[in-house]
Amino acid sequence: MIISPEIIEDIKFRNNIETVISSYVNLKRAGSNFNGLCPFHSEKTPSFTVFPATQSFYCFGCGAGGDAITFTMRMENLDYLSAVKLLASRSGISLPEDSNITGKKEVGRQRIIDMNKDAARFFHSMLLDEKIGEPGREYIIDKRGLSMPIIKHFGIGYAPNSFASLHDHLKKLGYSDEEMITGFLCARSKKNNSVFDLFRDRVIFPIFDITGNVIAFGGRRLDGIKELKYLHTNDTPAFKKSKNLYALNFAKNHGSDSMILCEGYMDVIALHASGFENAVATLGTAITPEQARVFSRYTKKVIISYDNDEAGQRAADKAFRNLQDVGIDVRILKSDSTEAKDPDEYIKKHGKDRFLKLLNSSKSKFEFEMDRILLAHNINIMDERVKASKELCNAIAGYPAQVERELYARKVSKLLEVPPESILKDVDSILNKRRKQEKSNEKTEIFRQSSGIGDRVNPESSLNIKANKIEESILGLMLYKPELLKIGIDHLTVDDFVTSLCKRIFDSVSSTFKECGKYDIGYIQGDFTIDEISRIAKMVASRELLTNNNEDELMRLINSLSNEKNKNDIAGYDNILDIIKNKKS
Ligand code: CTP
Ligand code: MN
Repeated sequence: MIISPEIIEDIKFRNNIETVISSYVNLKRAGSNFNGLCPFHSEKTPSFTVFPATQSFYCFGCGAGGDAITFTMRMENLDYLSAVKLLASRSGISLPEDSNITGKKEVGRQRIIDMNKDAARFFHSMLLDEKIGEPGREYIIDKRGLSMPIIKHFGIGYAPNSFASLHDHLKKLGYSDEEMITGFLCARSKKNNSVFDLFRDRVIFPIFDITGNVIAFGGRRLDGIKELKYLHTNDTPAFKKSKNLYALNFAKNHGSDSMILCEGYMDVIALHASGFENAVATLGTAITPEQARVFSRYTKKVIISYDNDEAGQRAADKAFRNLQDVGIDVRILKSDSTEAKDPDEYIKKHGKDRFLKLLNSSKSKFEFEMDRILLAHNINIMDERVKASKELCNAIAGYPAQVERELYARKVSKLLEVPPESILKDVDSILNKRRKQEKSNEKTEIFRQSSGIGDRVNPESSLNIKANKIEESILGLMLYKPELLKIGIDHLTVDDFVTSLCKRIFDSVSSTFKECGKYDIGYIQGDFTIDEISRIAKMVASRELLTNNNEDELMRLINSLSNEKNKNDIAGYDNILDIIKNKKS
């Protein structure tokens, strides 16, 4: 147990699961439960179910499940402790200091943010230092052409070419070695155990969160060498790379109806310097679904302006899909220049007015694809025209909204001089084929899961599939009905279970129960991975569908588990492995 049961109970009491989930998912009542479209995988018919009785959720499609805390972890991409804190703060519960909840002293998020602010000030003052800052200024002002006001605006700094300057500075301000290491500003040398600065002889870009806290740093080398061109803060208690968007703290206040998404710091800074203060960046990674969700809170339209190279275009494709999935109107900027590989270079070479023109002519994804296809085929030749039409129909079929498909079909029909009905007919037959394929994939997946083949969460289940089914039923039943929990604990021991996952679950549940006389999945979550929690939720959700959730059934299952286990103990695992081997040969 990481957090006391009283606190968990209070948090869950005030964060009713229907309320928590319905702020993200449109839920419809179905009997005593609720259904909706699963936010964790893409689906068209709802298999995501919320069970008010057990205050849990489970998706019969992708297998994600748990309670309000697990849901928040998944949805907001947080660890267990941070999810608990978020729910607590949303419902006005004040938690004791970190060190008191976890029993061990942790470096907290706020402390790291304070330290980062001091570090950012230090780096910035070093850039301004006449002597020490010279290499940094030469690079960022002379070579990259940034002005002093924009350097100040973004808090850009310089990390001196020294192993101890930041360390000594922070030490004077009262930060400990441990704190500097946890905050990824320093590391401990394996050779002589001393603590040294990680950012050295680099231009420093502080990374801000939405409220303007400094949560991380990026440092760029000054020479032209590609290796480790950028050094980034790893994940710390204050920073999750996959969640953050660089400069969103500025862009969100810009009041534009759209945002520009680019790849790097320098692109964003160059754009802001030219008045495009609605530019943000993902810092070298393709945009994640989490970032797309963050985006959708602040803007309805995004213009992707990635690098001209192939990697950039591939990343743009991925970003496109993730942004469209959250309902954003996405455009892609197509550079008309071969001399500039990214927005930074484009503005330097061609100026901001031409970039603005480019922005205004940005194309929708379909127009983009259409141009590409038409360029690749000479539609005056019959064969080529047929090929182009096939590719265009395939492209149209990729759009979920029928209105959109009809619009594009009309466009294509004009270009190829074929009636729109024929185009739509072809599109429909492609869609039908795809749906059939999807269904059969789904079936294979369900079969794979139910037969335990390739079970990643509980790999041992394939050693004794039958016994594993029974042990999961037992745990599901015990956790579904509180009155059966005590009976199960009295009749079973850890050794009665077969797979180590089920052993761990039983152990954790029964020791929690013995300690505090009750059980809730919220108490034990800190001991399991999020996928393991989903498996526990699956065990409980499977009982929801049954009517014999009573003591007789529990005793029957306990007996058959012991029978099944005995069978196998006699045969032994070697035997089973032999059988599997023989089957293969
Ligand atoms: N990046 C990184 N590590 C690298 C290269 C890139 O973390 N070795 C990230 C940085 O966040 C960078 C972004 O990916 O801003 C985009 O990469 P790139 O286009 O190469 O960098 P620019 O920002 O354009 O930087 P510069 O113009 O200074 O080369
Ligand atoms: Mn660049």
